[in-house]
Amino acid sequence: MSERTLVLIKPDGVKRGLIGDVIARIERKGLKIAAMELRHLDAETAKAHYAEHAERPFFGELVEFITSAPLVALVVEGPRAIEAFRSLAGLTDPVKSAPGTIRGDHALEIGENVVHGSDSPESAAREIKIFFPDRF
Ligand code: CMP
Repeated sequence: MSERTLVLIKPDGVKRGLIGDVIARIERKGLKIAAMELRHLDAETAKAHYAEHAERPFFGELVEFITSAPLVALVVEGPRAIEAFRSLAGLTDPVKSAPGTIRGDHALEIGENVVHGSDSPESAAREIKIFFPDRF
């Protein structure tokens, strides 16, 4: 069964020229790109996207970082796309992520970990609606 997930190539990934690398990994895996946009997020959208982290001590930092420069938002589609992309991305902590994963290959800091991927079907539906309200 095909499903959709929301992927973000975060400002650190865009600044470092990793858009092509991330997209190549998604395509090489066999997942499809159903929507894609380069976008500079406003604080309101960032807070909505990260609403589940609103009470965390790093929330302010998270919103500041994600709105600091343009990101790329993608809807990625395929069989078990949510789990498939999270496996490509690696763990939230890049140092604990295996080499061969996006974060394992490209990052060292939890806060600047190159990509985001939805963590459940409910999150995916909610996040896709925030970034691409009229498309799906
Ligand atoms: P992401 O998958 O985008 O979802 C929530 C983000 O919060 C996560 O990736 C991390 O980048 C970020 N995050 C998690 N823990 C911390 C932390 N301790 N300090 C800063 N950012 C964090």
